[in-house]
Amino acid sequence: LNARAQAAGKKYFGTEISTTVMADSSANNIAKNSQDFGQVTCENEMKFDATEPSRGVFSYTNADKIVAQAQASGQIMRCHALVWHSQVPTWLKNGGFDNATMISIMKNHIANVVGHYKGKCYAWDVVNEALNEDGSYRTTDSVWYSAIGPAYIPIAFAAAAAADPAAKLYYNDYNIEKSGSKATGVQNLVKLVKSYGAPIHGVGMQAHLTTGQVGAASQYVSNMQAYVNLGVEVAYTELDIQTPSSSPNFAQQATDFATMVSACKQVSACVGITTWGFTDKYTWISNSYPLIWDTSLQKKAAYNAILNAW
Ligand code: XIL
Repeated sequence: LNARAQAAGKKYFGTEISTTVMADSSANNIAKNSQDFGQVTCENEMKFDATEPSRGVFSYTNADKIVAQAQASGQIMRCHALVWHSQVPTWLKNGGFDNATMISIMKNHIANVVGHYKGKCYAWDVVNEALNEDGSYRTTDSVWYSAIGPAYIPIAFAAAAAADPAAKLYYNDYNIEKSGSKATGVQNLVKLVKSYGAPIHGVGMQAHLTTGQVGAASQYVSNMQAYVNLGVEVAYTELDIQTPSSSPNFAQQATDFATMVSACKQVSACVGITTWGFTDKYTWISNSYPLIWDTSLQKKAAYNAILNAW
């Protein structure tokens, strides 16, 4: 999959993995094969609750294992995620910190984590899922917005740039693959970051999709183009296409994977595709069968469909 993506001019085709996958040698042998995966994302190991479980105490053991394996396998890293409303530790969520303290906690976290992986991340998801479905900012359900307001977003990008000037800095979200209110919100967010003088280099579209609801590639191409017109690159960062276990439709799923590959192929600033895992044995939504290898680690129809779509 990666070899074909690169032959088509892309930087990578990649996958999310976890230390759970690494402990399953049959699955891990697939994950390590750079012919299929040229890029890796940690499923949970780089998130705030994993990397700063107590205030000022940083923990990198699990993420380091994944980065070391990726490097040994000739795979680049997309690093995920620095500032998100979810998977924040209790000390932070319930801390009741004021504006200045939250800014300093966020900057300290970014300096430490991005600094630890300096030079090892092709890209960082700096801010994840900051928007509601209508394109407005998440407010009360984000510890960051609640204490800092929208300025937390450009402050985070500036801090990440200071810690690793070479990393591509991304905004990442779901339901922003097609045009609509939330996609417009992303465009506004990119403009906001730039208006503060902070760098933003990419928009990551998670692409958690549903079989049979994907439709035509053209709608994805035009939406990507609207982001690219603002001066950023784009990527599909968490692609999976669920199909219900009661009546799975793996042929349609294969067609839908091919559609997403075709969309990325048509936009030169779409640098690559990452799937959120690769086998239905390890997926974040139970009974959704959304990936490329089945629960027995056999290739599904999606595999050849993706190959042929590049
Ligand atoms: C998911 C992980 O896959 C799960 O293991 C975890 O329990 C919750 O988070 N959007 C993201 C990812 O940006 O980090 C999420 O990953 C899936 C949705």
